[in-house]
Amino acid sequence: MAKVLVTGTAGFIGYHLALRLIADGHEVVGVDDLHPCAFPSLKAQRHRRLQETPGYTDVVQDLADAEATDALFATHRPDLVAHLAARTGVRTSVEHPFAYERSNVLGTLAVLEAARLHGRPRVVYASSSSVYGDSTAMPWREDDRADTPVSLYAATKRAGELMAHAFTATHGLCTIGLRFFTVYGPFGRPDMAVWTFAEAIASGEPVPLFDGGNMQRDFTYVDDVVAAVCAALFHPGLDGARRFNVGAGAPQGLDTLLHLIETAMGRPALRKLLPAQAGDVASTWADCSALEATVGFRPRVSLQDGIASFARWFLDHPDIVQTVRSERARSGRPTR
Ligand SMILES: NC(=O)c1ccc[n+]([C@@H]2O[C@H](COP(=O)([O-])OP(=O)(O)OC[C@H]3O[C@@H](n4cnc5c(N)ncnc54)[C@H](O)[C@@H]3O)[C@@H](O)[C@H]2O)c1
Repeated sequence: MAKVLVTGTAGFIGYHLALRLIADGHEVVGVDDLHPCAFPSLKAQRHRRLQETPGYTDVVQDLADAEATDALFATHRPDLVAHLAARTGVRTSVEHPFAYERSNVLGTLAVLEAARLHGRPRVVYASSSSVYGDSTAMPWREDDRADTPVSLYAATKRAGELMAHAFTATHGLCTIGLRFFTVYGPFGRPDMAVWTFAEAIASGEPVPLFDGGNMQRDFTYVDDVVAAVCAALFHPGLDGARRFNVGAGAPQGLDTLLHLIETAMGRPALRKLLPAQAGDVASTWADCSALEATVGFRPRVSLQDGIASFARWFLDHPDIVQTVRSERARSGRPTR
């Protein structure tokens, strides 16, 4: 069994990954700065649940503080690292560029440097489909060009990939970048469509469908993403600097998504058709054949089943949903 350092454990994917690793018998050291920038109640809930889980060691710190991150690695000496912490959300990166640079670039650099200095564990890190910019040559493959980001968020994720590559070239650190495609599931992100659509349906408000609902996303269920991270952490044959797409490999329109959420919640939605928004790419689509050929990973959860399981969670947690709704109203953040 391994000691795994997971960063971003109060976040959506990090929380699920930490629980899965512990369930599999591993020891998890979890780090998060609990910054109150987005929906702090949700982070606090996930954080509290992990603190109560045997096998979980809790660290609250800002990874961009390089000295503290060095001390973290010196103290815990992890066998493996899953670096998921980041400021997330494409649109807010426009408003807070320096916060994104600090967490996603400086924070990632601090993790890579500490890993090289303390035992050189394999570092699996979260990248994003956003590195492909608005390329229309689909599906996206890892060897496609990724040098025309259309948001600062995407630029910071690409910077993370390039730094990881440099650490492999210079120091021989094994770095595995996973480009996640629109992840959804229970305890997910209230800034993303699956949650905002469900919230609008539950409250009887119209669901804004940009580009008339024609936009397509490669929606990926969180358990599949967690399985991909585990495969990248534990597969014995991986070395060097690698990058892989992690998606369902099946783009779906937002109108299809909305229909599935309506069915799963047993309530119809009011639709508000709107033009496309600047900065939104029309479609995303992952070619996941490289990850399958390398570690045998295949996504297993269909959008229909994944949405059904999200909707069950959503309907079972009215208290969490209501608190998020109040935070959204206080912050003036629109549902989309
Ligand atoms: N959810 C998706 O659809 C998606 C898609 C592509 C890529 N990703 C990537 O996957 C990773 C996880 O995403 P998520 O959806 O769980 O996001 P999230 O926002 O729910 O979680 C990120 C966590 O990182 C923490 N964090 C941020 N900066 C930190 C710092 N400097 N020090 C310590 N902790 C810090 C935050 O407090 C938060 O809890 C991110 O790297 C994100 O860029 C996510």
